[in-house]
Amino acid sequence: MAADFDRAAIGYDKTFTNTAIGRGQRQVVWKRLGRILARGHSKQSILELNCGTGEDAKYLGELGHEVLATDISTEMLAVTQGKCRALPNVTTQQLDLTTLPHLSQQFDLIFSNFGGLNCLDSNQLRRFANWSQSHLVDGGSLILVIMPRDTLIEQWYRRFKGDRQSLRLRQSQNPTQVNVDGQLVQTYFFNPDEVTEIFEGYEVKTLKATGYVPSYWSGHWLESVLLLFSRVFSILSIGGRYGDHYLVELVKSTDDVT
Ligand SMILES: C[S@@+](CC[C@H](N)C(=O)[O-])C[C@H]1O[C@@H](n2cnc3c(N)ncnc32)[C@H](O)[C@@H]1O
Repeated sequence: MAADFDRAAIGYDKTFTNTAIGRGQRQVVWKRLGRILARGHSKQSILELNCGTGEDAKYLGELGHEVLATDISTEMLAVTQGKCRALPNVTTQQLDLTTLPHLSQQFDLIFSNFGGLNCLDSNQLRRFANWSQSHLVDGGSLILVIMPRDTLIEQWYRRFKGDRQSLRLRQSQNPTQVNVDGQLVQTYFFNPDEVTEIFEGYEVKTLKATGYVPSYWSGHWLESVLLLFSRVFSILSIGGRYGDHYLVELVKSTDDVT
């Protein structure tokens, strides 16, 4: 069955990964990942969810870690396989976050970058929280990068356009239809406090915005001005809920019995 992001696979790196906005946000994630991985041994087992075109799988594989990169989209997985061809420590598997099959392994780190979890509603996210507990080793980390409801620049833009309907929808429990390369994708937004409530069995270690500029500003004449705002917001540590995405690092407690 075709997945929502199949059509986007071919152009995703051009429209997001290789843009200044995409690269800047991924650097923030990699910096944090680097610190977390440095705490453990040199060859950690990593489960990557919604890996997309495999930019992170390649990065983590080149660091020498064992990566199982998963996504619902066979087209996205095909791009990942191409990018990671030279890395025998990176394997791929189709995995649907809404059905969550049991995997026979526990991982040192489970990682979901750039909004894959925004394709789940709050009940599905809750099921994922339980599932991840049983697939992480004690003391293992869950790194989630999620789109919040309150993205500041999105709010300014919608208000400027007089589009209060979109703002209301983003605050509701109903999905927003986001256009991804001509395909409407049902998208749910979660502020950090909702996520930490859902993942209450975990200790929250880090919570920060990865950047403040939504990627649809790429190539716009205002992009560099907005990126300047974003840098100032980062220096001022404006809360993750106002970011385009935020990163939350959750650690499974060592005395947890599941
Ligand atoms: C915005 S892309 C993020 C890709 C990648 N993580 C990155 O860093 O660029 C969202 C990804 O989530 C995947 N996705 C959407 N719904 C999913 C589901 N139910 N199960 C697994 N993956 C899903 C899509 O196929 C897509 O590759």
